[in-house]
Amino acid sequence: MDLNAILADVIKCKYPGVIVGPGDDAGVYRFRDTAIVETVDIITPIVDDPYTFGAITAANSVSDIYAMGGTPLTALAILGFSSCDFSPSVIKKLLAGATDKLKEAGACLIGGHSIEDKEFKFGLSVTGKVDKKKILKANGASAGDILILTKPLGTGILTSAHKLGKIKSMSLEEAVSLMLELNKNASKTALLSGSHAATDVTGFGLLGHASNMTKGAKLDIVISYKKVPVMNRVKNLAASGVAPKGAHNNLNFFCKNATFSKNLSKEDKLILSDPQTSGGLLIALPEKGLNKFDRIARREKMPYWIIGEVIKGKGRVVFF
Ligand code: CO
Ligand code: CO
Repeated sequence: MDLNAILADVIKCKYPGVIVGPGDDAGVYRFRDTAIVETVDIITPIVDDPYTFGAITAANSVSDIYAMGGTPLTALAILGFSSCDFSPSVIKKLLAGATDKLKEAGACLIGGHSIEDKEFKFGLSVTGKVDKKKILKANGASAGDILILTKPLGTGILTSAHKLGKIKSMSLEEAVSLMLELNKNASKTALLSGSHAATDVTGFGLLGHASNMTKGAKLDIVISYKKVPVMNRVKNLAASGVAPKGAHNNLNFFCKNATFSKNLSKEDKLILSDPQTSGGLLIALPEKGLNKFDRIARREKMPYWIIGEVIKGKGRVVFF
């Protein structure tokens, strides 16, 4: 369920301070001369180690600030857990992971709230600032832009396979190190090279977040499946029937906005719909910015993949 889409329907009145309301990666509010960015994200455990899970949660939560072109400043933790099942030492490790990752992002944890919950959940609400002339809106793309992705897909399929016992922890290492990677450099590179639009690929998969970029715009996004980077083993796992429920839900929900060429299999479509945790940025960049983007990305040792382009259209995502 897309809470932001429902919120956008419910909130009818316009507040003068709101620069970006529900529906984007984060909300932006102008307070005097400062544009404040705010977001919240909660996830359930995807790795066994509490420190690592805390760090991934933090990277995932600050990602929405980076997806707006912002700088994270502070965070509040939200924790749901059963106090009979988890000792304070586990929670300490979880929070240490989150605090360390926030520190790397230049932000600090300044509080939080916990609640008794049968199912373990952890998340962060993050506040940041952004230059209001340089906001990376999700729907700010223009026809002629090229489309860049900064992390390969597959965290949903790999973590599901691990939960099902189909792969060992070792095979999860690539996904874990990618989920721990902040989108800080991706955001900086997008801003410095003149991009106006970006979003992070998270729960709705590449398909869902690409459709969000074209929503209500007279644009189509055209993506070449063979150019989309995918983590090791993901294609084999998908072919053997491993895909989280979220991938199926995303495909069912967003397929109405998409056109798939006939040579793409059901597995290919599920990979394109795979919900990502702490996924990469999907950036729409004017072609003239590419040289600069490449220069900065090389300097920062940030990998990236050109996966498609933005053309005039009717708000569809075309995969071929
Ligand atoms: Co987002
Ligand atoms: Co989010």
